[in-house]
Amino acid sequence: MEEVIEEIKRILKKMISEYRLKHIMGVTYTAKILADKYGVEENRIELAALGHDLFRDVKPYKFLKIAKVYEIGISYVEKKNPILLHGKIAAEYLKREYNIPEDVYEAIYYHTSGYKHFGIVGKIIFIADSIEPTRKYKNVEYYRDIAFYDINRAYKEILKNKVIYSLERNHFLLSDTVDAWNYSIAQ
Ligand SMILES: [Fe+2]
Ligand SMILES: [Fe+2]
Repeated sequence: MEEVIEEIKRILKKMISEYRLKHIMGVTYTAKILADKYGVEENRIELAALGHDLFRDVKPYKFLKIAKVYEIGISYVEKKNPILLHGKIAAEYLKREYNIPEDVYEAIYYHTSGYKHFGIVGKIIFIADSIEPTRKYKNVEYYRDIAFYDINRAYKEILKNKVIYSLERNHFLLSDTVDAWNYSIAQ
């Protein structure tokens, strides 16, 4: 897995802006601390964190084409807003090229939406994506605090915040987000 991590670091420098790289390094930093806290293998988390936004700076018009090649089903919402596909595409790319583990694949694939069946790797990446050090928004400190004592609560609260944020701005809601939310409150 170390070799794949080094390879992804090389690819990142070519595919990602400096601004985005700071975010990705922030996610990696936070996710590793959470992994240590919750007893998750560090390599797995580093791989997922480094890979999650690998395609984030690709021009959005390319996403629909790549998604078709990778046979990713495109929803109405994704068709209208193709940037939402960047996680799914990164996950498929990394699976095809490097045969990444299933939980790392899921963490990357669903990091934008959340996922009702997320395991610990998925939850850590989803949370770290929202609370890494460069993130600045109202209540971010609150989410940072709860992430370190209750991972499930942090996941649910961040999911809720994303839903509220989207509704308040009349943004789309991905169906996986709605499913993740419904499932999380039934737990
Ligand atoms: Fe992303
Ligand atoms: Fe991200």
